[in-house]
Order: sequence, then C-alpha cells, then structure tokens
Amino acid sequence: MSARVVVLISGTGSNMAALLDAAADPAYGARVVAVGADRDGAGGIDRARAAGVPTFTTRFADHPDRARWNAALAERIAEHRPDLVVSAGFMRILGPETVGRFPVINIHPALLPAFPGAHAVRDALAYGVKVTGATVHFVDEGVDTGPVIDQVTVRVEPGDDVHTLHERIKAVERGMLVDVVGRLARDGWTLDGRHVRLGPTGPGPLPTSRDVAEENR
Ligand code: GRF
Repeated sequence: MSARVVVLISGTGSNMAALLDAAADPAYGARVVAVGADRDGAGGIDRARAAGVPTFTTRFADHPDRARWNAALAERIAEHRPDLVVSAGFMRILGPETVGRFPVINIHPALLPAFPGAHAVRDALAYGVKVTGATVHFVDEGVDTGPVIDQVTVRVEPGDDVHTLHERIKAVERGMLVDVVGRLARDGWTLDGRHVRLGPTGPGPLPTSRDVAEENR
C-alpha cells in the first residue's frame, strides 16, 4: 500500500509537481493525498487541483497568533491521515503542533548547516562560495536545523545571479526529493540522534561522534 503524503507549498510548487508525476507510478510507493498552502495564489494549488488532488489553504492572517495558525494547519493536515508531510517551498516555520504530530521533511536550497533561512541562494552568492546545493532534512522546531537525509551539490558559475543559480539548484533538488520521498515511503527510516538511515533494518545503531573518536584513538 502506498504511503500517504501531504505536501505543503507557498509558491510555484515545482517540487510538489515532481512528486505528483513520480506518484503516478504505483511502484513509487507514495501518493500525494493533499496539497496545502499558507496563502492565496500559490500556483502549485492549481496544478494539484488539475491533477485531482484535494487542496486546502490555511492563511496565516486568518489566525490571531502563530500557535493557533499552527494548530489549525495541523488539523487540516490530519484530515488527510498522512504518513509523511513534505514541506516543499513552504515559507513558514512549523511549530510543535505539526512537527510533533507527523514526520515532516523539508527541501532547502543550500548545503545545510550553511545558509539556513529564507534567502539561502542569495546568502550563498553573497558569501562567494564556489559550491552550494540542496538539502532534504527532517524538520524539527528550529529553522532548517533538523537531521539531514540527503544532499546534492551545485557549482556556482561566474556570472550567476540569484535566479540562474536557484533554477539550477531546483533542477537537481526535484530529483533528490523524489528519490528521498520514494525511499522513505518504500523502505522506512531509522533516526538515531542526528543520523538518518534509510531502510528498515541495519547492522545496529549508527556510531555516535564519541564512538568514532574512540575508534580513531
Ligand atoms: C525550492 O528551491 C525549495 O528548496 C525552497 O523553495 C523553493 C520552492 O520551489 N524551499 P517550488 O515552489 O517547489 O518550485
């Protein structure tokens, strides 16, 4: 049976669209059961509707404070009984009402822990890095601080601006997100502190940094 995935978006939703395309194959192991947005006019909502996927919008401005918005959002998500929630270009910080209730992953356009926050591509360019990329991570209560699931690199080319660099990052992050969601859905995962292992079983707990230090003595 396919894992039930709810995708949260704020804008174009190209990552969400890539998940919809992948999920058309029953062997993928996951299906998008709903797409939610925090604002009107998120283009991805139309794309989801056209694909026959239920959508919802939980506007931040309609709630008196962040906690009540988070609680309302969690309720809307829960209606779709997700096994996994994917934040794909969702430009709001999720609170404990959501991240404490469902497994949530996020796609971020930089190599975390470098350049967290809403302006990762701009910040990487301004810093002058030669290599950046994208990260898929579990969401905790911080801003882009949760355990890393996978990362992919992208070179910064001379003459890049925020738009050209972000487009190249988005081209590779879609592939990574599709791969990660499929693997999480089909194989499950184990979380050991900050260490994520994809797959149902493994040779035992992942080494902690102290174990590694002892081995290296
Ligand atoms: C992506 O670059 C993602 O990493 C970031 O927001 C962008 C969303 O793009 N969090 P889209 O809406 O999926 O096209």
